[in-house]
Amino acid sequence: MIAEKNLVFSVSTENTSYVMAVLKTGHLVHLAYGRRIASVPDISCFLPVEMTPVGTLCYWDDENDDIFPDNLLLEYSAPYRGDNREASFIADAGNGRTAMDLLYKGYRIYKGKASSFPASIESVDGCETLEIELEDSILGISVFLSYSVFPSSDVIVRSAAIRNGTSGKLSIKEAASLQLDIPRDDWTLFSYDGAWARERYEHKRRLEPGITIIDSKLGTSGNEHNPLIYLQNGKGEAYGFNLVYSGNHRELLEISPFGALRVITGINPYCFEWILESGESFATPEAIMTYSPDGVDEASALFHSFINRFVIPPFWRFRTRPVLLNSWEGCYFDFDEKRLLELAESGKELGVELFVLDDGWFGNRTDDTKGLGDWYCNRERFPDGLEAFAERIHALGLQFGIWMEPEMVNMDSELYRVHPDWVISLPDRTPLKARHQLTLDLSRNDVRDFIYQSVSSVIRLTHADYIKWDMNRSVSDVFSHGSELRSQGEVLHRYIIGLYEILGKLRKDFPEVLFEGCASGGSRYDLGMLLFMPQIWASDNTDLHDRVTIGEGTLRGYPLSTLGAHVSASPSHQSLRTSRIDSRFNIASFGVLGYELDVTKLSDDDRSAIRDQIAFYKKYRDVFQFGDFSSLHVSDNQRFWYTTLGDTSIALEIQTFGEVHTGRNDRLFLPFAADDKTYRITARREHIPSSCLGDLAKDCGQSMSEDFSITVPGAILKYHGLPLGPQFTAKGFTENTRILGDYGSRMYIIESI
Ligand code: DGJ
Repeated sequence: MIAEKNLVFSVSTENTSYVMAVLKTGHLVHLAYGRRIASVPDISCFLPVEMTPVGTLCYWDDENDDIFPDNLLLEYSAPYRGDNREASFIADAGNGRTAMDLLYKGYRIYKGKASSFPASIESVDGCETLEIELEDSILGISVFLSYSVFPSSDVIVRSAAIRNGTSGKLSIKEAASLQLDIPRDDWTLFSYDGAWARERYEHKRRLEPGITIIDSKLGTSGNEHNPLIYLQNGKGEAYGFNLVYSGNHRELLEISPFGALRVITGINPYCFEWILESGESFATPEAIMTYSPDGVDEASALFHSFINRFVIPPFWRFRTRPVLLNSWEGCYFDFDEKRLLELAESGKELGVELFVLDDGWFGNRTDDTKGLGDWYCNRERFPDGLEAFAERIHALGLQFGIWMEPEMVNMDSELYRVHPDWVISLPDRTPLKARHQLTLDLSRNDVRDFIYQSVSSVIRLTHADYIKWDMNRSVSDVFSHGSELRSQGEVLHRYIIGLYEILGKLRKDFPEVLFEGCASGGSRYDLGMLLFMPQIWASDNTDLHDRVTIGEGTLRGYPLSTLGAHVSASPSHQSLRTSRIDSRFNIASFGVLGYELDVTKLSDDDRSAIRDQIAFYKKYRDVFQFGDFSSLHVSDNQRFWYTTLGDTSIALEIQTFGEVHTGRNDRLFLPFAADDKTYRITARREHIPSSCLGDLAKDCGQSMSEDFSITVPGAILKYHGLPLGPQFTAKGFTENTRILGDYGSRMYIIESI
């Protein structure tokens, strides 16, 4: 689906085309990205739209005095040769010289995809790549731009590789993964921003002339700004972008004085430098991009499908994930083996399949000030050793999972006392701490060996089925004491390359172990981590209300199969909000379900509710984990979540505040129902614990929501909506009052029959 004619290049996916051409000056210009064009168009169909003479700006040369680089849509750009917008490539070719031309040299089209490092999406059968070489022939610097397409997918994978053909050193200050220049339009940017416990809240803003930057300088992809962005134009078409990278990133959007939009995504150039000796090359991480004529919802669905099929580690693609019980919020650091076994037994009895021993099992780690780095069993807590404990968990018929934070060290640890130079720290200052810990320097070979040995030994010793890989701080004091760098500007990128090297070895040696990524919750929720870890803990905030926003933001870019979501205690440990156990389940069930509370202390009501929840989740597990997610915002107070797999959809009605007698006339819609199909709709029966009803409880005579099952034509569900009856009717209320309560929700199973 890649073709070339008269130096016009067409990169087509199932439904989209991306078209570029080489001008007579050698500039590689962007012509179109949108709905599929069946044949390779002639360049005259597009020119000279962006080549009008523009006042004081530089034109190319006397023969080409109608070509103004500042007004071209360029595929990659360097500074100070007529293009005054932000460049995607900046390198010092000696003596601070950065001005250079990137002009067309040649191209090749080949099957597969170059598997350069950082290794991202692997070459897959049927994948096809166009590589275009641009060069500055005077300096001898080449840039290879790659565009790969995949079968039945509307995602294009892009990257750039730089070759230093000069006779000396080349210092790269910036090398973006992707540049896309799009003609004038009215653009709305969607970004996913936040902080700890408030990850990936969606924000929308209209782009105005000038530069907008979304980025991370945290050393990780970060909880402040995810590398995922969308752009929607006036016609409602959407473009999506993401990076296959876990470190500092930058997404730059520039509206030029002539209205064109430039998008640049890649490694954040902030304090970055990479030195190439003569003849060496540097490969950028990959970027993915997609286009949908139908807006961000559809673009997001295209990303989901691509990630499930081509990013998730092969063994885990579409493989169901166990329901887990994690010890953290139930015990924190306060546990011994006996307490954990009681927890696990209780979880098993509820239907849980995997028990996860979180922080606190190793060294002298009885609180978060000490022990990180000492990955051997705390014998006071586990007198017979970790191996024996894991065996006991396995003997209960549960899988065994364990927490590690391999990239970190406490100063109060044996590891730090022996290897103080293994941390990222300045030679002349006391390093800043976060959560009492320092970051190990993964740019060093010896550190990487230590981490691989530590994790693989724990897996082998315990026959672990699951590893929760945590990482709880941002970087500071960026400086490596190792000898493998040519410049301190390389440290953070080498760190990520080092991380991927360790994870690549672990994935190869233990393909069946389920890794869950975590970084103080969701501070490293990105496609780079998903290459090695099929699921990620979305946030330390498990409050059901906040999780609606976190879930929706996360699911904009990442499929349900990646989203770790837990039912925790009420009141919530993060928000102190109280809520019904079934409402908490409803939100957590969209994704990979877990429980994280002391299940030995549950009321009988809650125990029986959880038993039913897990049985229900297992019945529809594939729909919750691998279905297509969408949402419908009815009002500020009410929305629906949907997940659909084959003939089955689950719809979740979510309400923020309970309202009384509003005459709201709530209706259930299935926006994607087929007009000519008939659907059976059943409501999941929910437990209404008497504690929620107070004095009313004695009059009610029931503690379950009412049964509800009805058959409806698709056209009604799609266009008119099905009126929703009473959720729960207590004496004293009129028949039609629906009491979902504050932060209440109700789940419907919709099957096409
Ligand atoms: C931060 C994680 O996000 C939590 O889930 C938990 O594992 C703690 N670390 C343990 O220290």
